[in-house]
Amino acid sequence: MPVGIIAGTAIYSIPSITMEEISVDTPYGETLILRGEGENSDLIFLPRHGPKHSTPPHKINYRANIHALSSLGATHVLAAYAVGSINTNMPPMSLVAIDDFIDFTSGREVTFFDGGVNKVKHIDVSEPFCTSLRSTLLELSAQYGLEIIPGGTYVCTNGPRLESPAEVRMLSKLGGDVVGMTAIPEITLAKELDICFAAVAFSVNWAAGIEKKISFVEDGLSDLGKNLLDLFIRALREASK
Ligand code: HPA
Repeated sequence: MPVGIIAGTAIYSIPSITMEEISVDTPYGETLILRGEGENSDLIFLPRHGPKHSTPPHKINYRANIHALSSLGATHVLAAYAVGSINTNMPPMSLVAIDDFIDFTSGREVTFFDGGVNKVKHIDVSEPFCTSLRSTLLELSAQYGLEIIPGGTYVCTNGPRLESPAEVRMLSKLGGDVVGMTAIPEITLAKELDICFAAVAFSVNWAAGIEKKISFVEDGLSDLGKNLLDLFIRALREASK
């Protein structure tokens, strides 16, 4: 069964797999994906900012991306999100299998069900992620040398600017653990299409105000990304058997 991986900042391809670029037409516009060749043709990789990171978070065509994965038959999808750390127990370079979110975005197209022919649908997000895929991912993580924190709340801001220190203090008081700009509406659109979807946030900086100036992790990120992708592929294949 086809499975999908979505990634953004710091992860633009799957180095261990030869993939071809395919343009997919959707009712929401065209999107570019990479598809594995030969025995990996079940694998779809979607660079959410485009292959050259040319689309900022607030302008990503999330509906085209998720629709494309679904129309190609992807039943299980794992996403990686670069984030800033709010929770001091989740310092930069931490991996967090997020299990909840807070949405501070605005002006994005957030649903496939906006009336008319598509009707109206109010999805239940009491359990935002696919529990079986999250469990498989966490169970297999040690085999890839990865320690994944098994839960955390992702706050999605609109970007493209980073947050102010006062905003980060507020987000911390609201229960946010990590902050990023792209998980919403990706998570909720996948849920609307009944895709089994789970996600790992990887921290690349302390959020604003925790240190005097924001500095981004550079060392070790490509190894972390490579191991995370290998784990994603294994977990997706196990979970979709
Ligand atoms: N804030 C929002 N998005 C981010 C950050 C951050 O500090 N780091 C990486 N993506």
